[in-house]
Amino acid sequence: MCIIKNNYSLKKHNTFGVDTCAKFYAKFSSNKELLTILKKINTDKVTILGGGSNILFTKSIYNTVLHNNINGISIIKENKSHVWVEVGSGENWHDFVLWSVKHNFSGIENLALIPGSVGASPIQNIGAYGMEVKDSIEKVCTIELESGETKNFNNKQCKFKYRESIFKNEYKNKYVITKVIFKLSKTHLNITSYGDVENELKNLKLSINPKNISDTIIKIRNKKLPNPKKLANCGSFFKNPTIKLQDFKNLKIKYPKIIGYKIDEKKVKVAAGWLIDNLGLKGYQIGDVGVHKFQALVLVNYGQAKGKEILDFANLIKEKIKAAYNISLEIEVTIL
Ligand code: EPU
Repeated sequence: MCIIKNNYSLKKHNTFGVDTCAKFYAKFSSNKELLTILKKINTDKVTILGGGSNILFTKSIYNTVLHNNINGISIIKENKSHVWVEVGSGENWHDFVLWSVKHNFSGIENLALIPGSVGASPIQNIGAYGMEVKDSIEKVCTIELESGETKNFNNKQCKFKYRESIFKNEYKNKYVITKVIFKLSKTHLNITSYGDVENELKNLKLSINPKNISDTIIKIRNKKLPNPKKLANCGSFFKNPTIKLQDFKNLKIKYPKIIGYKIDEKKVKVAAGWLIDNLGLKGYQIGDVGVHKFQALVLVNYGQAKGKEILDFANLIKEKIKAAYNISLEIEVTIL
């Protein structure tokens, strides 16, 4: 059902729990409903909202907020080794991971408990524990806002990169993602080499399969990452920055424990969480905004923080990182 409201509070629709007002809000559950709404609005001035788990509102939204509620999960094709699954973009991401694990498919099990919707997953190419969603996406189905026409993007056309895609860049707010077609594997990928996953599986004496991997990751995440339902947050607030290998070597002399992953002969990706943590900022707080106590990459809202206060706090962290390591942190969350 299509729901349309004026001057509507988005507090319940962003996991940072920021109280901001949308001048015009419309929630749609099908392509047909979306097309009806598009005929009535200025499609140049639109903000598309999914699960609201990667967005920070810093002011009232004068654009039309389009809230995606297209649901449904169905298998559309299969062969001996793979299955193709069509998923409505308004489905909750974690629920889809649980569905996939229950059917014993592989490809997204390491992405358990990432907040947000299925439609948001390709936008920033969500990733965790050695897996990225881009490796399981066959096609992203969209409706172009301006023309109302359907356009499908194959994997290559999505221009996926680390936490990036065409939908976060040149096509930002130009297309509404309506469905995502996933290609999941019937053979288990069993990616366990990242961080604590392998050790945890061993400790718990669990055999390696998608269900046990996803259960273990749920356990690890619950220990380290705050549940947005209990403590408002948007997951990682910053990206892990990429720096020159030589700069990393120089930093390593000063900070022998610094954590980085070599990308190629010239570049290293540095753990931003470590950089922040090393400055003693875990648990650092101003008013209701803080750095999470257990994972420094996550900023949290303890109650009534305004979006602008969270952004100011983030900029302060950026300044501290720049001053200490001469590294410019990039914000991962979308700021509006
Ligand atoms: N670290 C610290 N202190 C901290 C946080 C991290 O020393 O406060 C160290 C850890 O000990 C580890 C390294 O930094 O050696 C990397 O930390 P972690 O494995 O927790 O991962 P991350 O790089 O901080 C990324 C993703 C997370 C994802 C995890 C697990 C980004 C921006 N973030 O975090 O994604 O869950 O890896 O794969 O790439 C998200 O995007 O919202 C998110 C939570």
